[in-house]
Amino acid sequence: MNIKDQYRILEFGDLGDERGNLVVVEGEQDIPFEIKRVFYIYGSDSEVVRGQHANRNSEFVLINVSGTSKVRVDNGFEEAVIELNRPRMGLYLPTMLWKDMYEFSEDSVLLVLTNTHYDGTEYIRSYDEYLKEVGGTGAK
Ligand code: TYD
Repeated sequence: MNIKDQYRILEFGDLGDERGNLVVVEGEQDIPFEIKRVFYIYGSDSEVVRGQHANRNSEFVLINVSGTSKVRVDNGFEEAVIELNRPRMGLYLPTMLWKDMYEFSEDSVLLVLTNTHYDGTEYIRSYDEYLKEVGGTGAK
C-alpha cells in the first residue's frame, strides 16, 4: 500500500478569540478513535531519535503543541517524513507503521493520543522483525 494512504494529516479548528487560541480535539470526532491514553514528550534535543518501533494495536495522533519535530514513517517498503510544526496540525498513524521521531526543537512539546492503555508486548522494537511481519524488503 502507498504510504501516503496510510498516514493522515489532520487540521484542527481554532476556537480562539482576542484572548488567545483554543484548540479542541475530541475522541471519535476530530480524532479517529476513542482516546484511552495521552502522553507527551519534551526535553529531547535535536540529536535524539525516539520511537523506533511499530505497534500491533495502537493508533496514534501526534501534535506538536509547541515547537517542531519530524516523524519518519516506514511501512517496510517505502518511507515518508512529516514535519510537525503547528499546534493545529495532527498526524494520524494507523497500527503497524514503523516510526521514528527526531529533530526536536528546544521548545518541542509533542503530545500523543492513542486508543490503547500501555502494553509493552504490542510493541515491535526490532526493524528486522517488523520487516518479517509485514513481508517488507526495507524502505532505506
Ligand atoms: P518509549 O516507548 O521508548 O518512548 P518513545 O516511543 O517516545 O521513544 O518509552 C520509554 C519508556 O516509558 C519505556 O520503558 C516504556 C515506558 N512507557 C510507559 O510505561 N507507558 C507509556 O504510555 C509509554 C509511551 C511509555
